[in-house]
Amino acid sequence: MSDIEKLASDYLAQIESAANVEALEDIRVRALGKKGEISTLLKTLGKMTPEERQTEGPRINGAREQVATAIANRKAAMEDALLNEKLAAEAIDLTLPAPETPQGSVHPVAQVMDELAEIFADLGFSVAEGPEIEDDWRNFTALNIPETHPARAMHDTFYFDDRDNEGQQMLLRTHTSPVQIRTMMDQEPPIRIIAPGRTYRSDSDATHTPMFHQVEGLVIDKGIHMGHLKWTLETFVRAFFERDDVELRLRPSYFPFTEPSAEVDVGFSVEKGKRVIGGDPNSENGGWMEILGSGMVNRKVIENCGLDPDIWQGFAFGCGIDRLAMLKYGMHDLRAFFDGDLRWLKHYGFSALDVPTLSGGVGA
Ligand code: DAH
Repeated sequence: MSDIEKLASDYLAQIESAANVEALEDIRVRALGKKGEISTLLKTLGKMTPEERQTEGPRINGAREQVATAIANRKAAMEDALLNEKLAAEAIDLTLPAPETPQGSVHPVAQVMDELAEIFADLGFSVAEGPEIEDDWRNFTALNIPETHPARAMHDTFYFDDRDNEGQQMLLRTHTSPVQIRTMMDQEPPIRIIAPGRTYRSDSDATHTPMFHQVEGLVIDKGIHMGHLKWTLETFVRAFFERDDVELRLRPSYFPFTEPSAEVDVGFSVEKGKRVIGGDPNSENGGWMEILGSGMVNRKVIENCGLDPDIWQGFAFGCGIDRLAMLKYGMHDLRAFFDGDLRWLKHYGFSALDVPTLSGGVGA
């Protein structure tokens, strides 16, 4: 074996036994780097006679090529092995049981929101959203609550000091009704939406918290009347409380954004010493309980959103979600909802695996 062939086979052996990419790089530098052994040999070609060069040239170049190829192959193999190792380490066996029992629970408010979405989806409603930081126009003016209207004072609004780019007064929305405006301005009728979300008023006692939850409902179509409203609410309330004998009472009322407006009461009765929604409200200790506001969308509101009220009519309703949860699941103090007390959540929370479905019974 000539010196060159011996050199090459030495390097090939080193490459074969290199432990890692760094060792391989070290070999490359020693053999093929600027001052590497094979590179130095290549430089000697210039000083050779043409005859010498003809025999030595192919041998040295051949050695260079062999070593370079061996390094490249070994490097690729190492990188492959590394990747496979990583993939094997990161593999998750989805068939294994969960390592520990889940600790968290679903808050009753989130549970009720899921139930609402489920019930209304069945009636052809989709879920709409709007921002919690709203502007004065969408929260009030467009809903037919002008600046001087007493309803503004009743809302105990949290205002921001800053105005937005258009000079609009910004505020924390006091109800979910501005989502009506957003939806009518963004979507072509027919519209069927519910909009659950957070709302804010500067108010606090056992039944009021500065942040609370509402769900808004809006239907815009042709030929909509109070009958549609009543049927929809009745169907919703019966599905929600999981009883077919829940009675509804519509009382004339006033909201600036609906005309006519109605407050809706549900009938309750007493069963086994407990007050329940449903049954005969005229029985002993039975009665009516207000749960939501509603009405036919005011022509002015439809107009404010750029729609023609001679073509499009609709109904709307707004309902406190926290109160729905309290009525259905039997809590008495609203403030506990937002204390973040784990014992309360353990008691009233729902399993994350318990997805509400109508077929399984909403609260099943
Ligand atoms: N926005 C009203 C409130 O917060 C509730 C309400 C009443 C909403 C009547 C409606 C409605 O959409 O039609 O008190």
